[in-house]
Amino acid sequence: MKLDVSSPNFNWGELGFRYRQTNSHIIFRFKDGKWDNGELVNEPYLQMHIAATALHYGQTGFEGLKAFRMKDGKIRVFRPQANAERIITTCEYTMMAPPTVEMFLDGVKRVIAANIEYVPPYGSGASLYIRPVIFGTEAKVGLSSSEEYAFVIFVVPVSDYYKGGMSNPVKSLIMANTDRAAPFGTGHIKIGGNYVATVRSSYLAKKREYPVLLFLDSATRTYIEEFATSNFFALTPADSNGKRHYVTPKSHSILNSVTNMSLEKVAKDILGWEVERRRIAFSEVEEGKFDEIAACGTAVVITPVGEIDHEIVKDDGSIVVNKHVIGDGKTVGAGLSELYHTLVDIQNGEREDPFQWMWPA
Ligand code: COI
Repeated sequence: MKLDVSSPNFNWGELGFRYRQTNSHIIFRFKDGKWDNGELVNEPYLQMHIAATALHYGQTGFEGLKAFRMKDGKIRVFRPQANAERIITTCEYTMMAPPTVEMFLDGVKRVIAANIEYVPPYGSGASLYIRPVIFGTEAKVGLSSSEEYAFVIFVVPVSDYYKGGMSNPVKSLIMANTDRAAPFGTGHIKIGGNYVATVRSSYLAKKREYPVLLFLDSATRTYIEEFATSNFFALTPADSNGKRHYVTPKSHSILNSVTNMSLEKVAKDILGWEVERRRIAFSEVEEGKFDEIAACGTAVVITPVGEIDHEIVKDDGSIVVNKHVIGDGKTVGAGLSELYHTLVDIQNGEREDPFQWMWPA
């Protein structure tokens, strides 16, 4: 059943991050070496061959981006070109037929136009989440790439991914005996496989009151990689001029987050901070080098992390948990607040968009 947003009292802030049916999605199909022009479809189902490469060999990739109803009343999307480029990289790495940037933008525009009433009002704190998904549809049983694809874009209005969003620091766990991505595997592209790899451990962590898992590098368990849902960044305390260091991991096996790249730019060019993209040893957290830590991504925006608990396997096989409280563990730090408000104000049109991120301009 379609989500009914017609009531003037509809509470957009309470949406959370759940699938809801809207008016329609768009589907493009690739066959005989070319993409068709795409078609809007109302029913949220598709007919697919039981042997499609997506189903058993996981030949699928996806994206996540958001549209906002801005202060001037117009609807704009945050950096869709960056997501288009990233899905092209994902397709190249997994040998899927990539959409063109133009096709991606055309699909985004058409699906928003068809679902206009689902774009949350300005000031509601909610947004329209856009989920492009691409997958192999050809029937195959030997392991090789499909010659046929579907590229679907659906939308869903959302508010906070983690309860309380920016105002609620979460607890994170580095779980023993579980990894997200191999050092030279597929961790850097946005494929379903990277996410399903963490579903079981995330479920177990949630049962223990940890909303989000953090992963270290799989080879040495020394360096910070990323969260199950999002990238990692940390801030050093402000110096006497209010200047901080924005520090985020450099690794082949983490996703190139559009939000993280944008926050790096905000930190450097708007706030005048230093930005470091480098390997980050977990010992830097243990030493208390950072007074603020967060998860960042399209869905989670900025989610402050108040505590990171690190499970370590001892020689006898037993597991000990070392707790690391960040700041006071409960309060959202001033640095994260500055970053968050600057980014969100650009997205809502409350401040100038100096990097021409909002599309169409
Ligand atoms: C996003 O942040 O857009 C993602 O695709 C992450 C997903 C776990 C919701």
